[in-house]
Amino acid sequence: MVSDAKKVDAGRLGKVAVLMGGLSAEREISLLSGGAVLKALKSKGVDAHGIDVDTDIVSELLNDNYERAFIILHGRGGEDGTMQGLLELMSVPYTGSGVMASSLAMDKLKTKQIWLAMGLPTPEFCILDSEKSCQQAVERLSLPLIIKPVLEGSSIGMSKVEREDEMIPAWQKAQQCGGTVIAERWVEGDEYTAAMLDDQVLPMIKLKTSHKFYDYDAKYEANDTQYICPCGLSEEQEADFAVLAAQAFNAVGASSWGRVDFMVDEHGQPWLIEVNTVPGMTSHSLVPMAAKQAGLSFEELVVKILSMAKCEQRPQ
Ligand SMILES: Nc1ncnc2c1ncn2[C@@H]1O[C@H](COP(=O)(O)OP(=O)(O)O)[C@@H](O)[C@H]1O
Ligand SMILES: [Mg+2]
Repeated sequence: MVSDAKKVDAGRLGKVAVLMGGLSAEREISLLSGGAVLKALKSKGVDAHGIDVDTDIVSELLNDNYERAFIILHGRGGEDGTMQGLLELMSVPYTGSGVMASSLAMDKLKTKQIWLAMGLPTPEFCILDSEKSCQQAVERLSLPLIIKPVLEGSSIGMSKVEREDEMIPAWQKAQQCGGTVIAERWVEGDEYTAAMLDDQVLPMIKLKTSHKFYDYDAKYEANDTQYICPCGLSEEQEADFAVLAAQAFNAVGASSWGRVDFMVDEHGQPWLIEVNTVPGMTSHSLVPMAAKQAGLSFEELVVKILSMAKCEQRPQ
């Protein structure tokens, strides 16, 4: 709970490895998040050490006796269950979701299949694996639509397709990221994100961009992206969407902290887009913004996340 978060005794958290950077396409963003997390932990008196994760990570973790790990790696090799699995085997409690939830949430297709099985609303999609499937996707979903590599983050490899002749190049671009590629029905409407912290849904944020969608540039470079919090929904609507966001988060087994992205169409119908198990954590990122609205400073948020570090295989 937010009120408990202020009471965490940072001095008791032991020697902490802040795992950042890594080898994914989101490396640079992770270094920014990691730098901010490290600074915040140190300012609260935590014995925190930054580690830029590369292929030597196993020996680095073995040589130093870390009592906890703060995972602030985005994308594959860090957010996808692999690092979580390594830390499980080493019995080092780590922040965020466990192995299965991390790998499910990394995969946008698997996440959507679980939501659909549970009757949760997510835009209709097609798997793209050939030029013919691209054609069929246009017929089934109609234009515009959005093409996504299912294992990527930060909008990398994604395109909005408005004309039929853009379809194949957009599929090929997404394919370069590796993994499965999907086309999703375009949702015309407003975009929101719900930050999750310790079974609580923090105040929602509405995102507004002048770009076609919230792409890499709108996320990290543009200075005209608007973040609206409180988000302008009625109290009742926000409460309804909070229930949905929590269901979406729990559906993949996510826990501790994270973010659920969703859109609301012109009829007020919400559509779940994705779960992030290690969202951005720079001082300008969305989870810190929502936490601030809930009365929690960046430093308090970071210490709270660290205090919830655990190994799934070990009874608490
Ligand atoms: N079905 C959709 N309709 C309209 N816009 C979408 C849709 N899916 C994603 N977007 C836009 O693309 C952005 C990135 O998509 P998302 O699935 O959240 O991937 P990422 O992991 O890269 O953040 C979203 O923030 C939103 O602006
Ligand atoms: Mg997203």
